[in-house]
Amino acid sequence: MLEVKHLRVRFYDNPQQNEAVHDISFHMKHGEILGLVGESGSGKTVTAMAISGLMQRRQTICSGEIWFDGKDLLKCSRQDLRLLQGRDIGVVFQEPMTSMNPVMRIGPQVEECLKIHTQISREERRQRALQALADVELPEPEVVYKKYPHELSGGMLQRAMIASAIVSRPKLLVCDEPTTALDVTIQAQILDLLKKINREHNVAILFISHNLQVVHKLCSRVAVMYQGELVEEGSCEQVFFHPQQDYTKRLIAAIPTRRKRA
Ligand SMILES: Nc1ncnc2c1ncn2[C@@H]1O[C@H](COP(=O)(O)OP(=O)(O)O)[C@@H](O)[C@H]1O
Ligand SMILES: [Mg+2]
Repeated sequence: MLEVKHLRVRFYDNPQQNEAVHDISFHMKHGEILGLVGESGSGKTVTAMAISGLMQRRQTICSGEIWFDGKDLLKCSRQDLRLLQGRDIGVVFQEPMTSMNPVMRIGPQVEECLKIHTQISREERRQRALQALADVELPEPEVVYKKYPHELSGGMLQRAMIASAIVSRPKLLVCDEPTTALDVTIQAQILDLLKKINREHNVAILFISHNLQVVHKLCSRVAVMYQGELVEEGSCEQVFFHPQQDYTKRLIAAIPTRRKRA
């Protein structure tokens, strides 16, 4: 479904810097959850943005291939790109507070993508948005629909973000550190929710995190990035219990051990 081949990304305004993403290749199957891990600055977000089309073309030089549903996203027309990346690929970011428009009610924000990419009626859009809000297990979707972002807690807002990412029923959901800004209990709830959505909607999830424990809970396969390169890839079992690369071994050794119980 998704195949990234020899992807390289460099920023124009940063010519001294090595490539932010340096020749990475990986693939994802339909309905699969792939974890992408690595320390801060390793190129995870840049990879996510290249796939979801959020990279400013003027800012970056990309090369390689990103095959999604039989089309190379780095070569297809602007129109195709807008459609694929807006409708078939949903994105969820770390900071729901800054990713949402503070002066717009939740409902219209969740519907936004339907407004751009479909011809369905206003009422049908509203129904789809309410359904998406219910799918992310927000209580009283009708009430949440009319609220402003600041009226929701961080966890509820992240659910609303997920609702707007799945409302167009994408085939791929790209989640970039979606739980990092949330406290541990809420984090666990969001992970359960993503699992449920993956199962029920059969949507593939590219789950990006610097937190290996979280990735282990959610993903079946994991890819490890280090300084813009993909250094290791395999099943969670393989990578976590039999890491091949020194960097992966160090990353795993750095996982904090279970906190002492009081
Ligand atoms: N807009 C930008 N302009 C210049 N360099 C950038 C930009 N965004 C990211 N980078 C650089 O690309 C590299 C990878 O960053 P990023 O993908 O955000 O890392 P991660 O998400 O793994 O923490 C870093 O060295 C970062 O400084
Ligand atoms: Mg990042």
